[in-house]
Amino acid sequence: MKKTVTLTFSDGSPSIELPIEQGTYGKPVIDIRTLGAHGYFTHDPGFTATSSCTSAITYIDGDEGLLCHRGYPIEELAYKSDFMEVSYLLLHGELPTADQKMAFEQSIRHHTLLHDQMENVFRGFRRSAHPMAVMIGVTGAMSAFYHDGMDNFNPKHREIVAHRLIAKVPTVAAWAFKFNEGQPFVYPQNRLSYAANFMHMMFSTPCEPYEPNPVLARALDRIFILHADHEQNASTSTVRLAGSSGANPYACIAGGMASLWGPLHGGANEAVLHMLDEMGDISRIPEFIARAKDKSSGFRLMGFGHRGDKNMDPGARIIRETGDEVLDELGRRDDPQFKIAMELERIAMDDEYFIERKLYPNVDFYSGIIFRAMGIPTSMFTAMFALARTAGWVAQWNEMLSDPAHKIGRPRQLYTGAACREFVPLDKRGA
Ligand code: CMC
Repeated sequence: MKKTVTLTFSDGSPSIELPIEQGTYGKPVIDIRTLGAHGYFTHDPGFTATSSCTSAITYIDGDEGLLCHRGYPIEELAYKSDFMEVSYLLLHGELPTADQKMAFEQSIRHHTLLHDQMENVFRGFRRSAHPMAVMIGVTGAMSAFYHDGMDNFNPKHREIVAHRLIAKVPTVAAWAFKFNEGQPFVYPQNRLSYAANFMHMMFSTPCEPYEPNPVLARALDRIFILHADHEQNASTSTVRLAGSSGANPYACIAGGMASLWGPLHGGANEAVLHMLDEMGDISRIPEFIARAKDKSSGFRLMGFGHRGDKNMDPGARIIRETGDEVLDELGRRDDPQFKIAMELERIAMDDEYFIERKLYPNVDFYSGIIFRAMGIPTSMFTAMFALARTAGWVAQWNEMLSDPAHKIGRPRQLYTGAACREFVPLDKRGA
């Protein structure tokens, strides 16, 4: 028998019975969709206890420290798969066969180049523009290049959009960096792997060719896997909400990037490095911990905590190990910032405040240290996150639109403003 819950009212109004749904895993959800007809809405700012959609892509059990994409644990994907395969998995629901993988990679390679006129879009920005501002602008501008003949309800069209975005966003990110640096844009080199191609576009110049280090390219590919999707976070929900109106998908992904940029979300990786720079020395860690615990300071330990993960995120654990590999490869174990980060992690993990609140270091805590060791500047960190998360965003957008019953997202509100009143003409208003 299906479980239900009954809402009873203290004023004796008739009670309401609501169905309870159980997914494959996770907490059961109370389906409140009929509540409106009874004259009530629910109130949950920040979506702390509200499921906004049905999804079969990613499952996170924060208490158990579990993260799975399409049923596959992240540990297996990170060590046994590659980013192209994971992108295919997120989009299609199954791991590809060898032929499917080859065809997918070929299609991604086919789309890496940007329309020649898009160079002009980059050149419209000021040189010092933050790479995320450029990425948001250029990705949004793609909607002007790929608008005609786009039918959101045609699965083939959606597939082309997904491939274009996964293929072009690394070019956009690398060019945002090149534009900052005042260096010429470097075209994609399709003989290279996805991660190695990105490194090539970032680091080669017309006068100095760059051969991507395979150990670093593999580590970067794994970091991309670890950032690929994290179910209904702020940026993914932004993409879904924007896309629910039938909006142009490139504009929707630009919206997701805008949401990701915030320091409480993907912008945290940049904020972590600024925090470590500001600390400067291990001796200052206690001062920063004390500030983070003092609510009136408005300061948080960046790279700690997560809405969904109340245990150490397995992705964070893997990225920490990947950091070890990268620093060993580069001979940078003695990096002072790395030492500060490790000591900060140790002290925070031993502190009652962080233990009680289950505030563990998250992926953003470690990624910045690795990116910096690889020669990627701090301002590019969130762009790296956006590049990888594009795979998750397009998969979630595609999933939503492939359900013919999907509705436009339209939250309700608890209005607390003025009651209706009469307009007062300007000459009758008090001083
Ligand atoms: N430093 C100090 N205190 C914290 C921190 C932190 N980083 N994070 C949470 N808290 C405290 C918070 O003050 C609150 O304390 P109390 O119960 O005494 O009022 C308690 O922990 C719960 O915090 P919350 O704000 O209700 O938790 P949330 O689920 O709404 O926020 C978060 C999650 C990620 C926004 C938050 O932990 C945070 O601001 N972390 C720092 C920024 C960060 O690293 N963000 C990256 C998130 S992971 C990757 C991604 O999704 O982009």
